[in-house]
Amino acid sequence: MSLYLLAIDQGTTSSRAIVFSAQGLPLAVAQQEFKQYFPKDGWVEHDAEEIWLTTLKVCREALQQEGLKAEDIRAIGITNQRETTIVWDAVTGVPIHPAIVWQDRRTADYCAGLKAAGHEALVAEKTGLLIDPYFSATKLRWTLDNVPGARERAERGELRFGTVDCFLLWRLTGGKSHKTDASNASRTLLFNIHSQQWDDALLELFDIPRSLLPEVLDCAADFGICEPDLLGAAIPVLGMAGDQQAALIGQACFQPGMVKSTYGTGCFMIQNTGSTPVTSQHRLLTTVGYRLNGQVTYAVEGSIFVAGAAVQWLRDGIKLISDARDSELLAEQTGDSCGVYLVPAFTGLGAPYWDPKARGAIFGLTRDTGIKEIVTAGLQSVCYQTCDLLQAMRQDGAAEPSALRVDGGMVVNNWVMQFLADILGVPVERPEVTETTALGVAYLAGLQAGLYRDLEEIASHWHRQRRFEPRMAEGHRHTLYSGWLDAVKRVRSEG
Ligand code: G3P
Repeated sequence: MSLYLLAIDQGTTSSRAIVFSAQGLPLAVAQQEFKQYFPKDGWVEHDAEEIWLTTLKVCREALQQEGLKAEDIRAIGITNQRETTIVWDAVTGVPIHPAIVWQDRRTADYCAGLKAAGHEALVAEKTGLLIDPYFSATKLRWTLDNVPGARERAERGELRFGTVDCFLLWRLTGGKSHKTDASNASRTLLFNIHSQQWDDALLELFDIPRSLLPEVLDCAADFGICEPDLLGAAIPVLGMAGDQQAALIGQACFQPGMVKSTYGTGCFMIQNTGSTPVTSQHRLLTTVGYRLNGQVTYAVEGSIFVAGAAVQWLRDGIKLISDARDSELLAEQTGDSCGVYLVPAFTGLGAPYWDPKARGAIFGLTRDTGIKEIVTAGLQSVCYQTCDLLQAMRQDGAAEPSALRVDGGMVVNNWVMQFLADILGVPVERPEVTETTALGVAYLAGLQAGLYRDLEEIASHWHRQRRFEPRMAEGHRHTLYSGWLDAVKRVRSEG
């Protein structure tokens, strides 16, 4: 009997495929970066065709490793960069426009208009989200209004909309399956997280024809069967979740109160709130953590747009380092009090500020400031932003977490993890398997395939690799963090 699970992790900067054993151990990994397009200030696009081709390529590569065969794969799980919006022809599957990426701010003015017209309260009540260009609805509307003929074609039912999960599923199943899962749907601004349905009032507000929308299933469900000629066998797709929700599962944060933070392109901190959709008073999001057997587990989320992308910018943008790993050594040499603050608001600020027009800046430069201080400030910015999120959760009255479970590419950096524990005043726990996003969706697929009894069995596979205890003096922490808050204030568009 085939016991392996293939996880597709289609992220913002790369497509990855990982084959896991039923015990949750990665056996084969393939990864391919793809091009980022920045056609205008605040615009971010991907070529949806490249998303598909790189995904297919990495799946095939992973299946060629370790003597694996397609028949060894029991099920596929798909996890993805969320909110990124694709519209394609319902017959040919050809996208009508590049994918508009979650970071894209082109609809900032339209969002500001909706807020000024007083729509935010209703939208927040139904979706748990805020009106911000980050989410899919305004990107979808923009596509319909700006691609010639698109709105008419949508009205005639000739187009399909999906986030990346949905587009990949459509392609994998040869156009047979137009489906998404509740966690991805909950990021569109069109999905009512209480009724778990697409919401007519929201469709009307954003002017979106219903025929564009996919069917919404649980995160572990029969999504469709992969066309046999694509990967060499007719493998069922049985799991699907947005990447941050998948990481929540991969981190086994199944009890209310448990928190994880993932450091990829951005940083996303999510706290499980159980069956209650908790409303934040401090501009965090309420979202579907996961939906299994029709039961929703809700979560509160803080979303930061630039985390790993800050290090990428230090490397590729201003070329202060040649390898992301060099940043750890430079930070060790600098210590924590260089007095320099880098606010990486390259695409505006996410939670808890939600300021799409803010832009990045570096403060506190002196005649002594050099590469290492700026690089260290870049790393620290990721931790300070995480602290902003935890502070918002604290102000919302959330129980103090006993630890923060971390994952994503940046968590290999021990200096960052220690500074994170210090600035949060909370222990930071790194798991043995840090590929938690892919692992989470592999677990979902395995759950549906019957490889696991329940979430408890999945949780038994989670093991800690290292715990970082906070050791910074309270006064010092306070001074450093106050400097950050002051720097953020200076980049805000609203002053
Ligand atoms: O909401 C956007 C998020 O899903 C992107 O995640 O890992 O590609 O930065 P990542």
